[in-house]
Amino acid sequence: MSDLLEARGDTSWFVKDRFGMFIHWGLYSQGARHEWFKSYEEIPQDLYDKKYFAHFEPDLYNPEKWAEAAANAGMKYFVITTKHHEGFALWDSKTSEYKATNTPAKRDLLRPMVDAFRAENMRVGFYHSVIDWHHENYIVDRCNHPYRNNEELLKKMNAGRDQMKYADYLHAQVRELLTEFGDVDILWFDFSFGNKEKRGDFKEHKGREAWRSEELYRMIRTLQPKILVNDRLDLERVVGDMKTPEQYQPRSHVQVDGKPVVWEACQTFSGSWGYYRDEYSWRGVRQLLSTLIDCVSKGGNLLLNVGPTGRGEFDARALDRLEGMGKWMRYNSRSIYECEEAPAGFAAPEHCKLTYNPEKKRLYIHIFDWPYKHLHLDGKAFVERVEYAQFLHDASEVLFEKVAISQTHGALNAGFDSDTTLTLTLPQVEPNIEIPVIELFLK
Ligand code: GLC
Repeated sequence: MSDLLEARGDTSWFVKDRFGMFIHWGLYSQGARHEWFKSYEEIPQDLYDKKYFAHFEPDLYNPEKWAEAAANAGMKYFVITTKHHEGFALWDSKTSEYKATNTPAKRDLLRPMVDAFRAENMRVGFYHSVIDWHHENYIVDRCNHPYRNNEELLKKMNAGRDQMKYADYLHAQVRELLTEFGDVDILWFDFSFGNKEKRGDFKEHKGREAWRSEELYRMIRTLQPKILVNDRLDLERVVGDMKTPEQYQPRSHVQVDGKPVVWEACQTFSGSWGYYRDEYSWRGVRQLLSTLIDCVSKGGNLLLNVGPTGRGEFDARALDRLEGMGKWMRYNSRSIYECEEAPAGFAAPEHCKLTYNPEKKRLYIHIFDWPYKHLHLDGKAFVERVEYAQFLHDASEVLFEKVAISQTHGALNAGFDSDTTLTLTLPQVEPNIEIPVIELFLK
């Protein structure tokens, strides 16, 4: 039997589904000012629990509504924070008292969520933080722990702590997640950090040694062989099943050692992953759609995050964006699902992005700036392979001809066939759709 470290998950569905929902929900949702505010404000544990653990009562929580909003937006999978850096578990874990069932919520919040998203035919992903600012054996580090700047307290708290006992706890919770919720499709860890020169000093660095990552990975592969594992366990020989750029967009298809790899950008509506009441830098529907198209045009996925409130709802801003994306996806999801970057030889015209469905041999032109009458597709590949063109949203034909338009005199003499430019003639008025898409049928 080869070493389970060499084993990888099944990405065949992942690279077709392309679009997922990230959900960051926990006690930090009560604070409503970013999921890291416990660290940023260096809040002591007892105060954090007196405020947020004691008052966490998501009485409006209805996961069916969450799943419906995600499905209507065109999302095909979701990834939920089972436990974030604060250490609080959404499910009724036998390993801890720091869990939803012991708050005024008085119930397991994860199981009904998994059931609701599965009922919408969506695949299930668990985000699980390896960082834990609550656990009694987690070594208080000088990197991001809420007590990092109090050297005296740090020393006092670390006396008697055993990071390996925390690693045991981490593995036990992951085992619960992979044995009590049926088939799980993604395990999304977050994150290893610190000065790599100080490996093993858990106050300065936490990586594969702190999590016992290789042992953890082998356990995961034993329990759920097909599951996708991301790239944040600091495993030396395992890139993970997907690379996970966040809060920026890659310039092209993400590569490792010069080879394209499966990748998924995770992004937020506004900057914060957890609910942030007073954050006003919310991106609009057009920019969010552009980000989704950008990912697929480079052969990647988009995992777009929602931070539900402490009452257990998606707030109006999130619902507005999801509905707007869903309206576009209803007409144009054919240019997203089962698509990837365009083949060589097909260069995107100015102000456009291309995606391609290799099975159907269909090329999709996403037009971000409406041109004056013509869209010129330069390259022999267009001339030789395009057999039909239509708008995707209403299947109305788009006429084209092989004509070279000179810089000064418009169309050259009639009959002058260009073997390097295919010119589409577009309506004067842009169709009433956020980002119009033209579907090209290739020979
Ligand atoms: C960063 C943030 C973390 C968030 C994650 C999502 O690691 O620190 O709060 O959950 O990004 O990818």
